[in-house]
Amino acid sequence: MARRVRKAIFPVAGLGTRFLPATKVMAKEMLPVVDKPLIQYAVEEAAAAGIEYFVFVTGRGKSVLVDHFDHAPELEELLGSRGKEQELESLLDAMPDPGKVFSVRQQVPLGLGHAVWCAREFIGDEPFAVLLPDELLMSTPPGLKQLLDVHADVGGNLVAVTEVPAEHTNRYGILDVESDDGRVAKARGMVEKPNPEDAPSLLANIGRYILDPAVFTYLDKQLTGAGGEIQLTDAIDATTDTLPFHGVRFEGERFDCGDKVGFLTANIAFALKRPEMADRVRTAITQLLA
Ligand code: UTP
Repeated sequence: MARRVRKAIFPVAGLGTRFLPATKVMAKEMLPVVDKPLIQYAVEEAAAAGIEYFVFVTGRGKSVLVDHFDHAPELEELLGSRGKEQELESLLDAMPDPGKVFSVRQQVPLGLGHAVWCAREFIGDEPFAVLLPDELLMSTPPGLKQLLDVHADVGGNLVAVTEVPAEHTNRYGILDVESDDGRVAKARGMVEKPNPEDAPSLLANIGRYILDPAVFTYLDKQLTGAGGEIQLTDAIDATTDTLPFHGVRFEGERFDCGDKVGFLTANIAFALKRPEMADRVRTAITQLLA
């Protein structure tokens, strides 16, 4: 039985270059899907999976991400005095308990592995989760919970995966699969963004991880990998000699919100799930397509 996972890292220090100019002064992870920023979906997913402590790895201009989970006294007072109960509730609902949100700074965005390494002191010597907020998951049970349920049995390192078309392997960390029961794949390793001809499988990591603190031993070396960045994939790959490594097929809908079309699709999909607006959205889409 693996140790319980209590802490989650949210790396949010990236530059979001694919979303410029929107991300010139605004964090990509604050982009809203319908009316909630991406970061809030990720925090809610982690909380629903039983995570207790949330650490944001932020960078320059990203403090707003931490502020989003703090009180806004003037606004709350104003909403209260105007009787806007529902709006006020939507703010208070987003608030984790006091003392549960932390942030560390990644001064230079040297890569995802480096961002995770920046949170090493906060994690200490226990297994932890990593969620990339620009991967938006819609599922019951929540994406991270699906991983945690398997982690309780197998321990070690786990990533959520989905099968991607061969021509897309160079966008993802791709698993080198040893055996596969159709839901959980035991893997020998993982390669970051391989070209289709070099990809060991079509199982791609979709931004949810449960990791053993042993990955920090590799990250301590600060070695660069694909794209000249310090890659989390390489750290996981380097620990497969000593730790089990599994990919768990994610069951649900996934939206790559780091990509413009993925982000727009997520907005439509989430809006269609909202009873108060679904009909109007459907009508608007039908009119646009006519
Ligand atoms: P991405 O590569 O998708 O994000 O990293 P990016 O670099 O911000 O976006 P583009 O490609 O330039 O458009 C995945 C996640 O890892 C974080 C990002 O903030 C994002 O949430 N990240 C990435 C860091 O925190 N630090 C890094 O050095 C790199």
